[in-house]
Amino acid sequence: MTNPVPALLSVENVTAGYGDATVLFDAAFEVHTGEIVAIVGANGAGKTTLLSTIVGLVAARAGRIMFRGRDITKRPAHLLPSDGLALVPEGGRLFPFMTVEENLTLGAYSPASRQGLVARRDEMMQMFPILHERRQQPAGTLSGGERQMCAIARALMCRPTLLMLDEPSVGLSPLMVERVFEIIEGLARREGLTIVMVEQNVTEALEVADRGYILDHGHIVRGGDAAMLRRDRDIQETYMGL
Ligand SMILES: Nc1ncnc2c1ncn2[C@@H]1O[C@H](COP(=O)(O)OP(=O)(O)OP(=O)(O)O)[C@@H](O)[C@H]1O
Ligand SMILES: [Mg+2]
Repeated sequence: MTNPVPALLSVENVTAGYGDATVLFDAAFEVHTGEIVAIVGANGAGKTTLLSTIVGLVAARAGRIMFRGRDITKRPAHLLPSDGLALVPEGGRLFPFMTVEENLTLGAYSPASRQGLVARRDEMMQMFPILHERRQQPAGTLSGGERQMCAIARALMCRPTLLMLDEPSVGLSPLMVERVFEIIEGLARREGLTIVMVEQNVTEALEVADRGYILDHGHIVRGGDAAMLRRDRDIQETYMGL
């Protein structure tokens, strides 16, 4: 069923790659305001490439990317946070020798977000009390879960409309995976954020998501309601190891 409301983000037949290699073939999907969309796939499926292409770190070779009704296909990556699009990169990519507080401050580099910087940082410390406790600690000394929270908080400093996360659960203990997914769910349900996450953890990602897409060797092979995908026998066997 197609949604009559215009999508917040629409990725239209995007092809991308590196050098002679095409990594992403004709990828198409939509994200609507307030939903959590999971794009799941194995190592090397092209998940990071897909997010990098959306934010303009990798150039699309064909296709178009629309965000809030505007064509952002060729928009420089550094302008997107001001547009309301933020990315939490794989592994968090914090500045390890800077403190938690300094990392958060760096998330507010756009002129608009710099204005309310201190208040927003306080909000983030309230949302993630562990970051308040660790605010003077170098980010490189954080645990995996703390690091992921700090990376999410840093991305939220620019008050995005759409938050994209690259494998937020990678390298975390099962308990921490649950905690991070709870945070993601809370951001969508309580803060009204729209979320796109790419994940290898197919089962858990589809549990949190409203809708999902399966990325296989650079092709989006399935898409739809997350609960429906989770119950699909083929998907269970091929991607969930059930
Ligand atoms: N900078 C690059 N230059 C050349 N090839 C690359 C580059 N980045 C990724 N690739 C290749 O593109 C393919 C997809 O990689 P990508 O990182 O998008 O996959 P992924 O789904 O994010 O994998 P993972 O789950 O391991 O993070 C892989 O074959 C990878 O080797
Ligand atoms: Mg990746």
